[in-house]
Amino acid sequence: SNGTDRELRAPICCILGHVDAGKTKLLDCIRRSNVLGGEAGGITQQIGATYLPVENIRERTSLKAEVAIKVPGLLVIDTPGHQSFSNMRLRGSSLSDVAVVVVDITRGLERQTIESLELLKHSNVRFIVALNKVDRLYGWKTCPNAPIVKALKNQSDDVQRDFRWRVTEVVTQLMESGFNAALYYENKKIKQVVNIVPTSAVSGEGIPDLLLLLVRWVPEIMVERLTYVSTVECTVLEVNEDKDFGTTIDTVLINGALQKGDQIVVCTKQGPVTTNIRYLLTPYPMKELKVKGQGVYKHHEEVKAAQGVKISARGLQHAMAGTALIVVKAGDDLERAEAAAVHEISKIISLINDDERDENEDEIAIHENSRIKTCSEGVYVQAPSLGTLEAIIEYLKTLPVAIPVSGCNIGPVHKLDVIKATSMLKRKREYAAILAFDVKVIPEAFELAAEAGVKIFMADTIYKLVDSFTDHINKLNE
Ligand code: GTP
Ligand code: NA
Ligand code: MG
Repeated sequence: SNGTDRELRAPICCILGHVDAGKTKLLDCIRRSNVLGGEAGGITQQIGATYLPVENIRERTSLKAEVAIKVPGLLVIDTPGHQSFSNMRLRGSSLSDVAVVVVDITRGLERQTIESLELLKHSNVRFIVALNKVDRLYGWKTCPNAPIVKALKNQSDDVQRDFRWRVTEVVTQLMESGFNAALYYENKKIKQVVNIVPTSAVSGEGIPDLLLLLVRWVPEIMVERLTYVSTVECTVLEVNEDKDFGTTIDTVLINGALQKGDQIVVCTKQGPVTTNIRYLLTPYPMKELKVKGQGVYKHHEEVKAAQGVKISARGLQHAMAGTALIVVKAGDDLERAEAAAVHEISKIISLINDDERDENEDEIAIHENSRIKTCSEGVYVQAPSLGTLEAIIEYLKTLPVAIPVSGCNIGPVHKLDVIKATSMLKRKREYAAILAFDVKVIPEAFELAAEAGVKIFMADTIYKLVDSFTDHINKLNE
């Protein structure tokens, strides 16, 4: 086959890069949204997915109707750049076909840029570098949404010289990381040499170029991989407590189709859980999967890959992020599906065991719904999703004086959580605390905590949360 008669699915594209390089802003510019404005402290703390239909991409790139695009759209995955969220970067990059590494042109390669490049090298995922914030170059003349070559022609000699110099710097830094790279419009070996696309997420220069590269270059280099197959391939991205739907999982459907009512097998530490899809939800096109609110989800009878899908079903409480979701279609063997889940679970468990074995921790237990390790003396942590819970616990571990964790939970803080935290009152009083990130505390839980002497700390960024707790500890020690 020459590839023209194939049905291609949307490529899955992960956005990676250092803190504040402009990952979310780039997506906002493309979606004409303001997800960034809704983020506490302008920090992305949750992995997300957005579907961009090809019609919108055509419009943004002013493509003539006769120019063929072989893919139905793009599924983009935004990730956090902050250090503690490496779990989400790993999850995003490992299920993606391609990545965009966003680099701030005024700063060059930074810590998490290099971490991202390592991830991509390791997982063998091809990528494009978006050299962002070109509008910050001194003297830049804005050309809203213009193709980059046109925008550059409009600049003074000084700006063009500055631009050249900075591109050369970044090319050298990429070389040091083991990658040959070139401005995409000067790149003669686009199959081997990494493409650099200068962009501005504020005024939109280079955005058409970036979108065009994604929808034209990507299918060209990976037509096999993007060929739609009906065998379901689906990965759990996040486990959430939703006030309307109960426990839900955010998944990325990589191949095949899901139907409402489908029997599914999810991986939990206790073993496979077999259940049925109650609701099959997606955000509207150009909307972010992770953004909560009334009426933001579209209900479906069927969803076809590639898509970001929210699934509501019984028994999802202990699902593990990063594992495969297995679908049992009519005629499929349930036992075989469950065996596949057992295999998947054993892979994860062995990962945990190989991970970091800490000699000093006694009574290490792995939290029931994740790879989280807890110990007998420590604080209680609560977060809206498994991924954020993991990120906070990771952050607590990396502090100059690490803070141990004795228990954790997803969703609002209830009385039972407070009761669990009271066990520290006798063991280690300063750890009789709940670190509640971005979750509600129900009034009864507040009352009980006040009576019992459990301190509850609340904040909307993991950094503020941990700061307020460490301030408290420092005061106790003074
Ligand atoms: P994290 O998710 O926290 O890692 O950050 P991010 O990479 O998503 O960056 P974000 O989109 O939050 O942007 C960081 C800051 O840079 C914000 O204040 C943006 O408005 C600004 N910014 C992003 N892109 C551009 C750009 O192209 N030009 C200019 N001038 N500012 C930008
Ligand atoms: Na940011
Ligand atoms: Mg962001």
